Amino acid sequence: MSSKKKAHLLGFIQHGVNSHATGMWRNPQDKINYDFSKPQYWRHMAQTMERGFFDAMFIADELAPYSTFQNSSDATVKYAVQCPTHEPSTIATIISGATKHLGVGVTLSTMFTHPYAMSRLLSSLDHLTEGRAAWNVVSSYSKSEWEAYGHEDMTPRNERYEKMEEYLEVCYKLWDSWSDDAIVADKASGVYADPSKVNLVAHDGKYFKCHGRHFCAPSPQRRPVLWQAGSSGRGRDFAAKHAEAIFAVHPNVERMREYADDLNERLDTKFNRARGSVKYIYGLQTVVAETRSEAQEKYERIMSHIPLEGALAWISGHFGLDFSKMKLTDNVQNIEVPGIQGLFESILYAKDPAGKLPVTVGEAALIYAQGMGMPRAIGTPKDIVDQMEYYMDEGGADGFMLAATYTPGCFEDFANLVTPELQRRGRLRTRYSGSTLRDNLLEA
Ligand SMILES: Cc1cc2nc3c(=O)[nH]c(=O)nc-3n(C[C@H](O)[C@H](O)[C@H](O)COP(=O)(O)O)c2cc1C
Repeated sequence: MSSKKKAHLLGFIQHGVNSHATGMWRNPQDKINYDFSKPQYWRHMAQTMERGFFDAMFIADELAPYSTFQNSSDATVKYAVQCPTHEPSTIATIISGATKHLGVGVTLSTMFTHPYAMSRLLSSLDHLTEGRAAWNVVSSYSKSEWEAYGHEDMTPRNERYEKMEEYLEVCYKLWDSWSDDAIVADKASGVYADPSKVNLVAHDGKYFKCHGRHFCAPSPQRRPVLWQAGSSGRGRDFAAKHAEAIFAVHPNVERMREYADDLNERLDTKFNRARGSVKYIYGLQTVVAETRSEAQEKYERIMSHIPLEGALAWISGHFGLDFSKMKLTDNVQNIEVPGIQGLFESILYAKDPAGKLPVTVGEAALIYAQGMGMPRAIGTPKDIVDQMEYYMDEGGADGFMLAATYTPGCFEDFANLVTPELQRRGRLRTRYSGSTLRDNLLEA
C-alpha cells in the first residue's frame, strides 16, 4: 500500500458573479451558458467537483459590499468585487441534491445571528445534505458588514474571538442535547420522543443567553464539520481548539511548513489534540492546460481582466485600510492591518520567500486580486501535480482550497486534467469511502 498522503480538495467559490479572482466575470471563458443565480449552474459545478473527487465545495462569504476604499462601496459595486454575492446556505441543498458524496461548506458569521438560530439552521442543513454539511466559522472582519447590520463600530478582533468561543459553547450544548435514543416514535402510546432525553439548554453567559431545547432532531453528523481560517495568534488558537480543517494562504513552502508546525504545537500543548489530527488546507490557484504555453496564455488572460481600482477596493475591504490614501508606489511592508492579518502577510512573502523585498501598494493590490494572494500553479497536469506534491510533502499540506479563476470551466479543467494525474500518482481517492463529509475529509 502506498504511504503517500492523499490530497483533500475543496472548490473555493462564492454564491456570486465573481469569486476570488477580481475581474473573473469579464473573462470570455467565464460562465459560458451559465448564470450564477440559477440552480443549474450550481448543480453542474457540484457534479463537476464530484467527478474530480473533491471533498466539498467551500462557499466563502461576507455580509455586505466592501466600503473601505474611498469610504464608499462604489468601486466594489462598479467592478463586481465579490459583488453581487447571494446568501450561501441557500445553495447548499441544490449542491447536495445534485451529488451523492460531495460535501458543502458554508461560511456563516457568528456576529449578527443568535447561536440558537445558527445551530438550528446548521442541523437542518446537515439533515438535508445527509451528513455532508460543514461550517466555516467567521466573525465579520469588514466594517461594511458591521455598518450594514446597524453598528457604528466593529468589535475588536480579540473580543470577537472571545464572543465566538461562547457562541460555539452554546451551539455545542444545543447540538449535543438530544440523546441518540431520544426518539422512540411509538405510535401505539403516542410518544414520539422521551423528554428526559432531550436536555433543556440553560446558558447565561457574558454575551449570550439561551434557554430552550434544540428544535432539531440529531443530524447525521450531529455537528457540522467545523472549518476555520483564523490566522492571527488569537485566531490560530481558536482554530486549534475547535476546527477539524484549517484553511490558510501561504505563498511558499517555507511559510506553509512554519504554519503547520505552529498549529501542531498549539494542538498538542494547548488543547490536548493530537498533532496532525486537523487537516491543513492551503489555498492554491491552478491554471492548467495540455501545454505550458496554453496555460500561460490562460493565465495572462486572467491577469488582463483585473481592474486596478477594483483590486484596491478589495484589499481595502479585506485589510480594513483605505489604500486610496496611499500612493501606488508606497511600500506596504510595515503596515499593521486591522482586517485579515494572515492574508496580508501572504502578500508580503509572495515576491520574496524571505519577505525582504519591498512590495508597493500597486503590487500588493494585483498580487491579491488574482486569487487572494494564493500561490499559483500554472502549466500541464504534471507541472501542477508536481507542485501539489511538493506542498504536501514539504509544506505539511493535507489538501488544497482551489480558487476559481473562471467558472465552471476551471473546475472542469481540473477534473479532466489534474484529477487523473493525481490519481495516477496515488495522491487522490479513486472512490469516496465514507458516507459523511467528516468521514471523507478526515480520512488519511
Ligand atoms: C483562506 C481564508 C479564507 C477566509 N474566508 C473568509 C470568508 O469567506 N468570510 C469571512 O468572513 N472571513 C473569511 N476569512 C477570515 C477569517 O476567517 C478570520 O475571520 C479573519 O482572518 C480574521 O481573523 P484573523 O485576524 O485571526 O485572521 C478567511 C480567511 C482566510 C485565511
